Amino acid sequence: MKFGGALITKKDEECVAHLEIIQNLCAVMKSISDDGIQTILVHGAGSFGHLKAKRWRLNEGFIPDMEHPGDACSSQEEAVSQVRNDMLTLNSIIVKELENVGFEVRTHPPHQWATNLGPTFSGSLDHFSDSDSSIVHVTFGDVVDVDDDRKFGILSGDDLVARLALELPAIEALIFAMGGVDGLLKVPPHIATDEDLIEHWSPDVNYEGLHQSDIDVTGGIGLKIMRGHLVAQSGIGVYLINGEHPSRILSLLRQEPWRGTTILP
Ligand code: IPE
Repeated sequence: MKFGGALITKKDEECVAHLEIIQNLCAVMKSISDDGIQTILVHGAGSFGHLKAKRWRLNEGFIPDMEHPGDACSSQEEAVSQVRNDMLTLNSIIVKELENVGFEVRTHPPHQWATNLGPTFSGSLDHFSDSDSSIVHVTFGDVVDVDDDRKFGILSGDDLVARLALELPAIEALIFAMGGVDGLLKVPPHIATDEDLIEHWSPDVNYEGLHQSDIDVTGGIGLKIMRGHLVAQSGIGVYLINGEHPSRILSLLRQEPWRGTTILP
């Protein structure tokens, strides 16, 4: 399961989490676990990552003599370590809520075990294999080291979740819980009506996503669809669901009617 950053954080306030939404999502994860299904959680960054990463152009890698007068940090290197720390802070908020509902949590911060970018990033996924549904492994989008002149870059949670889904055994579903939308829409969210939800997406279905490249350092909805499609082609169910209505996730897994988008192979 991927919790999108726009769902779990407040968009315009740097480093503020949406606690109530996180609590509701964790409660649903507990119900899923009580049904005997184990979940691996990958979360995004939202305002804990994108804003500072964008100001310091961390998605472009190392830029010699980059400066940002008036900012709380004085170099890209410092910004890298601050974004990593901010991500650990967001992670600890989520871990606390998972523990509150009774999970044992193992967190794996990508900057400690992953390098390079995109869907073929390097790093062993061995520590995520475990078959006990009371244990939740957690990881997140992060700034990771890169083995070339860029030195570092942003590894999206969408790449992490795709590799986990494709490489771990017995994965049945990949669920993207998103903020503010019921799934993939035919038109940008601010002009969409209830009829604009795409219930089944395959590459011949058009959508007009809104990628806020002014604040988003990873790929927005387009990246989710690309990675989701890659995973769907391996026979795993891939779904986009509004995480502000987390009971829809339970309905999907219990084979009851639910609202959202299925990504077809
Ligand atoms: C981005 O990860 C990580 C950083 C900006 C440090 P994601 O791509 O998974 O984040 P969201 O879901 O878009 O916020």
